[in-house]
Amino acid sequence: MQLIKAKDYHDLCHKAAELILRKVKGQKKLTLGLATGGTPQGVYRILVEEARQNGTTYQHVTTFNLDEYVGLPPDHPQSYHTYMNKKLFDFIDIPPQNVHIPDGMAENLEEECRRYEQMIDQSGGIDLQLLGIGINGHIGFNEPGTSFHSFTHVVKLEESTRIANSRFFSSLEEVPAFAVTMGIASIMKSKEILLLAVGKRKAEVLQRLIYGEVTEELPASVLKMHQHVTIIADEEALSSL
Ligand code: GLP
Repeated sequence: MQLIKAKDYHDLCHKAAELILRKVKGQKKLTLGLATGGTPQGVYRILVEEARQNGTTYQHVTTFNLDEYVGLPPDHPQSYHTYMNKKLFDFIDIPPQNVHIPDGMAENLEEECRRYEQMIDQSGGIDLQLLGIGINGHIGFNEPGTSFHSFTHVVKLEESTRIANSRFFSSLEEVPAFAVTMGIASIMKSKEILLLAVGKRKAEVLQRLIYGEVTEELPASVLKMHQHVTIIADEEALSSL
């Protein structure tokens, strides 16, 4: 794992956006794995601004999002469909058919998970997967204890995750209890992974990730077994190292 230190959130977003843009501009065909949450928002803002200024095209880009809540319609204000449209897709020229986000409203969720995993494989696999990290070490919505062999699946969210994400909802009760997420093995199939960690809130988990052992109790620790992982973290997130 390569660790890149950023001064602050602003610096981290620029470093991450630069890495993504190098691929967007340098590859004829590119499949990106995208994440939601607070952390990547500033990165998407930079990509949008850069596309506006330079007319950067995303016609050749395909995307797969990590996860989606179960039971939220795509147009729900807190769905990850809405998040991605509002933060990125509405402002770049990516063809709508190239955008993939799990369908948390599917009647048969097991079937939806299989379909999603197959689509990732059929696209030729993810070239670069962007990740945040939960305070309990989750990646995507893979909570502690998730098998390293898991593919896209339905998960019951931990209380700590629902509390952490309740800041985007009007109350904790509104935060869905379940989600569809790419599994640990789905994430590990990506050719390259970029994990972002920001702020004091993430200092403890980052310390565990960097110095601790590889264990299913800390889902992000699996990344130590991947060939090409970059972590960009700001000074606060690195303050416990
Ligand atoms: C959510 C998402 C993850 C994200 C994590 C951290 O639960 N499913 O993909 O990485 O939380 O979020 P934040 O960046 O807001 O700290």
